[in-house]
Amino acid sequence: MAYNLLKGKKGIIFGALNDKSIAWKVAEKAYEEGAEFILTNAPVAFRFGEINELAKKCNTIAIPADATNITDLNNVFNTAMEKFGGKIDFILHSIGMSLNVRKGLTYDNLNYEYYKKTIDISALSFHKILQVAKTKNAINEWGSVVALSYVAAQRTLYGYNDMADAKAVLESIARSFGYIYGREKKIRINTISQSPTLTTAGSGVKGIDGLMDFTERMSPLGNATADECANFCITMFSDLTKKVTMQNLFHDGGFSSMGMSLRAMEQYNKSFEKCD
Ligand SMILES: NC(=O)c1ccc[n+]([C@@H]2O[C@H](COP(=O)([O-])OP(=O)(O)OC[C@H]3O[C@@H](n4cnc5c(N)ncnc54)[C@H](O)[C@@H]3O)[C@@H](O)[C@H]2O)c1
Repeated sequence: MAYNLLKGKKGIIFGALNDKSIAWKVAEKAYEEGAEFILTNAPVAFRFGEINELAKKCNTIAIPADATNITDLNNVFNTAMEKFGGKIDFILHSIGMSLNVRKGLTYDNLNYEYYKKTIDISALSFHKILQVAKTKNAINEWGSVVALSYVAAQRTLYGYNDMADAKAVLESIARSFGYIYGREKKIRINTISQSPTLTTAGSGVKGIDGLMDFTERMSPLGNATADECANFCITMFSDLTKKVTMQNLFHDGGFSSMGMSLRAMEQYNKSFEKCD
């Protein structure tokens, strides 16, 4: 059911790769809620053509841009401002990638060139987007910017590797830039810390199936899906959350506040039964 929460709002959505992507779901819901936006993703993401299908469905365009490249980002913002005849109201940063994870290198055996890429793609790109937007004065007052994060920024989770460091930087950028944007432009900047989710990026995480079963058992409300994450993003872009800024907002069914649950304990105890 749509509520017209984003009627009249314009935005930019980074990171829709396929119909599993969180950004894809956000685009679908933003469209349903009356927003106009442009889509963008890394040039390689256009090879499969799916993003153009989404653009068609949402009556918009998709622009290739490497989010670590300032020239590309300038082009994205220029295109959006031209298309909408002025400033935008919301931005979604839904970007993450680690070559160390992809190549199976562990945290005590990192390739530092890959490590720099992880930080650049998954965290500094957020700073670059915010800095380019600020230089162009591209966001309206009371606009809203959201980036997607993960609880590994605060707690160590086996296998999340250098992405944990990237997420810690990402969340810090939201606070540091959130202060400046709030003070000068009344614009809010937040991160949403999402449950493990079966997307292309999510499937790259070591032991994702076991992890998802564990977090499902640990979370009183169960894991949050990509659709549910998209709903939360929409409320963050709407005028209903105008005074929320510089926050890392957990969207994880309660996982981040749990130590041990009955359901996880029952499963854990089964391993002892097997050993006897
Ligand atoms: N899936 C999960 O379990 C999970 C949990 C918490 C947070 N997140 C975060 O959600 C965000 C979206 O991931 P997803 O799960 O939807 O997976 P996804 O693979 O669908 O999205 C990741 C996106 O990053 C894009 N990207 C990679 N390098 C880029 C570059 N140089 N420039 C521009 N775009 C680039 C990819 O093309 C892709 O569209 C990521 O920040 C991810 O870390 C995911």
